[in-house]
Amino acid sequence: MDKVIIAPSILSADFSNMGSAVREIENAGADWVHADVMDGRFVPAITFGPKMIGDLRVFTKIPFDVHLMIEEPEKHIAAFADAGADYITFHAEASIHQHRLVQEIHNLGKKCGISIVPSTPVSLIDCMLQFVELVLIMTVNPGAGGQKIIMPCFEKIETLMRIRKERNLNFLISVDGGINEANAPLARNAGADILITGSAFFNAHDKKSFLETLRCTNCR
Ligand code: DX5
Ligand code: ZN
Repeated sequence: MDKVIIAPSILSADFSNMGSAVREIENAGADWVHADVMDGRFVPAITFGPKMIGDLRVFTKIPFDVHLMIEEPEKHIAAFADAGADYITFHAEASIHQHRLVQEIHNLGKKCGISIVPSTPVSLIDCMLQFVELVLIMTVNPGAGGQKIIMPCFEKIETLMRIRKERNLNFLISVDGGINEANAPLARNAGADILITGSAFFNAHDKKSFLETLRCTNCR
């Protein structure tokens, strides 16, 4: 994909004012809203569930990219689909029957993403790549915003680019964790189609120009 998709994460927003955070994301010119769901089990932190997605859905028309950092994702996908998620991404490490889960997400009429944490190799999801619309590469250990990026994870983006080309597949490559103005061009050049940005977006004074910088006309 030539045009980058930028998805600010509401994890770094003020949780008492999420509606205006979503409006701010759309008004700044972002493409998607990224929503990080944490259960206190797959990751130590707890954030929010499907009700939050449903309540926020009315604040924008841009797609909701729901990133499930939860155990037993199969128990909750219907609720997130009903709430208005457009993409539902689960962690490969949290699901034994990944193919069944992808089918269930598709049967709910949603696009499906699969994600891996920094310690998981691309080979773990190799046979799932043909079935998903999105692959999310975590470049920090999941569970919190504002962490420093783990740069060697970019090699996984390059591996996915190569596999996608070789097998003529269509999944989008998403990168999540520690993305900022300095490393966004590297992520894009490695092959990322989607840049997720939490703390860097919400800390930026001028969010429009921050997004323009991230769009990085010079790369690719
Ligand atoms: C981390 C989340 C990320 C997080 C990114 O567990 O999956 O989406 O919000 O935040 P930054 O950009 O601050 O690393
Ligand atoms: Zn995320």
